[in-house]
Amino acid sequence: MQDVVLELRQRGIRVGVVPTMGALHEGHLSLVRASRECCDRTIVTIFVNPTQFGPGEDFQKYPRTLESDLEAIRGCGADIAFVPSHEEMYPSGFSTYVEPPSVGARWEGECRPGHFRGVATVVLKLFQAIPAHVALFGRKDYQQCRVIQEMVRDLNVPVEVRVCPTVRESDGLAMSSRNRYLDPRDRQRALSLYRCLSTAMEAVAGGQRDGRLVVEAMHRTLRDGNVDRIDYAALVEPETLQPAGHLSRDVVAIVAAFVGTTRLIDNAAIHVPE
Ligand code: PAJ
Repeated sequence: MQDVVLELRQRGIRVGVVPTMGALHEGHLSLVRASRECCDRTIVTIFVNPTQFGPGEDFQKYPRTLESDLEAIRGCGADIAFVPSHEEMYPSGFSTYVEPPSVGARWEGECRPGHFRGVATVVLKLFQAIPAHVALFGRKDYQQCRVIQEMVRDLNVPVEVRVCPTVRESDGLAMSSRNRYLDPRDRQRALSLYRCLSTAMEAVAGGQRDGRLVVEAMHRTLRDGNVDRIDYAALVEPETLQPAGHLSRDVVAIVAAFVGTTRLIDNAAIHVPE
């Protein structure tokens, strides 16, 4: 892959990379299209990265749909699929990991210990294997985007990180590979995450500037929607992901909750007028 990409670069060809774990949906494909807009060649990586799953999480049962993924990638005009084996990514004796930046400490970092260490490690490895000009990520995983942006800055990785909008189903549910775990009743309950974000947006639009009260309303919406467990619902500062108290500038509403045994996350930018 390095030889291929370096040769493309030498010929003045602009390369974009879209890292994924497969089970591709429109969210992933929107990143491929965004890459095609800004780059001459697009490489999609598919690797279900074991180091970012905790014990008891869904690594074993994570959906693996390689054939239809390749078809989808081809269909939207990507040029190369990079599908490394476990041994290629983690050869025997592998023992070097990236310590994730402090923006990864809370929220997902707390609920999924070791998750961002695995993400940062595999993404840095993918950046080394594929020295692309641009790497595209989805805002759906907002904290992951911040972790990768900080890592790229801190470790001088010569890649431009682009963050693309969250793609949603028509009723608001953020697309996710994990949505396919949901049966029709869970699928309905999963909408509570989107409603929770809407609650926050409406409260702020209605003039509420007490972050704590907005967060309480977010929790109420989740409980009313009968989710099985709330991991967190919060308003945070966009850069640091620290909780916002008094709302005086733009924030991000973030949420993670279980519907049945499926863990879902979502977020939304909230504009706070001066
Ligand atoms: P995965 O969950 O497969 O997501 C791959 C990319 O697609 C990520 O950048 C993610 O944010 C983006 N994405 C997922 N759902 C989206 C949606 N509804 N709208 C827009 N973009 C969406 O995230 C990972 O894989 C892994 O952690 C990875 C970065 C590949 C490292 O293993």
